[in-house]
Amino acid sequence: MRTQVAIIGAGPAGLLLSHLLHLNGIESIVLESRSQAEIEATIRAGVLEQGTMDILNNAGVGARMRAEGALHHGFELAFSGRRHRIDLTELTGKSITVYPQHEVIKDLVAARQAAQGQLLFEVSGVQLHRVETTTPSVTYSHGGGAARIDADFVIGCDGYHGVTRPAMPVQGRQDYQRTYGFGWFGILVESAPSSEELIYARHPRGFALVSTRSPTVQRLYFQCDPADHVDNWSDDRIWAELHARLENRDGWIVQEGRIFQKNIIGMRSFVSTPMQAGRLFLAGDAAHIVPPTGAKGMNLAVSDVHLLAQGLEQFYRQGADERLQGYTAGALKRIWRAEYFSWWMTNLLHTFPDATPFKREVQRAELECLVSSRAMATALAENYVGAF
Ligand code: FAD
Ligand code: DHB
Repeated sequence: MRTQVAIIGAGPAGLLLSHLLHLNGIESIVLESRSQAEIEATIRAGVLEQGTMDILNNAGVGARMRAEGALHHGFELAFSGRRHRIDLTELTGKSITVYPQHEVIKDLVAARQAAQGQLLFEVSGVQLHRVETTTPSVTYSHGGGAARIDADFVIGCDGYHGVTRPAMPVQGRQDYQRTYGFGWFGILVESAPSSEELIYARHPRGFALVSTRSPTVQRLYFQCDPADHVDNWSDDRIWAELHARLENRDGWIVQEGRIFQKNIIGMRSFVSTPMQAGRLFLAGDAAHIVPPTGAKGMNLAVSDVHLLAQGLEQFYRQGADERLQGYTAGALKRIWRAEYFSWWMTNLLHTFPDATPFKREVQRAELECLVSSRAMATALAENYVGAF
C-alpha cells in the first residue's frame, strides 16, 4: 500500500493527526496494535485545556464534548483541614472541560470512519525502514498476513512503550528523565459527584484527587506505592484511606458508591529529543511523559499534532519544509513548560518518603502562599489552563 503519511498508534495524537491531515486533503493510514473496543474503553485523562477544546471544535469533532463535557471555572486546593478555591476564570479568563479521553477517542474514530479513513486495528510487528531517506516504509502483520506501507512520512504516535522512539537514530539524542517513588491508585465510582469542582488534596498520609466523569460517575485518585497491587486494596480499605486524606473542618465528605474499576499508574517525567529525524517524527507520549498531577499529557499530545499538521500542510501545499524543520523546537517550548508545571505541582502536593520536617513545612507554607497571594494563584491558574 502507498500513502502520504503513515501514523503508528491510534491514541489522541495519532487519531487527531489523521483527522487534521484529512481536513487538509492529505492521506494517511493509522496502524493500531489494540482493538477498537479496547482503545474506546481505556480510562485515562479527563481534563482538557481550552486550547485543546478549540482545536477539537475547529476540527469539527467537538459536538459531543460541548454537549456532555463539564465546563469548570475553578478547582480547589485542600490542606491542613481546609479547602481553598482557585478561580481559574477570574484569574485567567479561561476555563477547562472535564471530558474523558476515551470519549475523545470515540469521537475521533467516528470521524475517521465516517470519512472512510484507513484505520487498521490489531496490527502487530510494526517495523520502520529507511526513515532517514525520503522513501520510508512500514512493515507489519494484519489479519494473519504480512503487509507493507510506502509513505512520504512516518509519525510515531505510539505512546511511551511504542516502537517508533527506539527506531530513532541514537546519535545526537538526549533523553531527560525523572521518576518519582510513588504512583496513583485510580478508581471509578458509581455515585453522584462529591464536589462540583476538582479537589487536589495534600495530607500527611499522601495526596488525593477528587474528580468526576459524569453526573453518575466519580473519578478518584490517591497516592500509592507504584509496586502495590489493586488486590491489596479492598473497597473498605480504599474508602478509609480516602476519608482520612480528605478530612476537613468544613463538614464536606467524599461520597461513597460502588467501585467498578481500580488501577495503579507509575509517575515519571520524561522528554526525548530531538522529536524528529529524517522523515520520522514523534508526537505525544512517544516523545514525552508528565506525571498526571498537572493534567497535561493529552493536552500536549494534541498541541504536538496540531503543530505537526501545520508543517505537513505547508510541505504538501507549498513544497516548503521550514515548519517541519522547526517542529522539535516549536513543540519543546510548550512541552518544557508543561514538564516544569507538572513536576512543580507533583512536588507541591505529594508526600515524599525522604522529606525532612523542614521540607514538609516549606511545602505547607507554599500552599498557604498560593491561596493568599493573587500573584501566585494567577501563575498556578495560567499554567493549569495552559495560558501560554
Ligand atoms: P497513547 O494514548 O498512549 O496512544 C498510543 C497508542 O499507540 C495506543 O493506542 C497504543 O495501543 C498504540 N501502540 C503502542 N505501541 C504500538 C505499536 N507497536 N504498534 C501500533 N500501535 C501501538 N492527560 C491530560 O491531558 N489530562 C489529564 O487529566 C490526564 N490524566 C491522566 C490520568 C491517568 C490516570 C493517566 C494514565 C494519564 C493521564 N493523562 C492526562 C495523560 C494522557 O492520558 C496521555 O498523555 C495521552 O494518552 C497521550 O496520548 P498519545 O496519543 O500520545 O498516546
Ligand atoms: C484527572 C486526571 C488528572 O491527572 C488530573 O490532574 C485531574 C483530573 C481525571 O482523570 O479526571
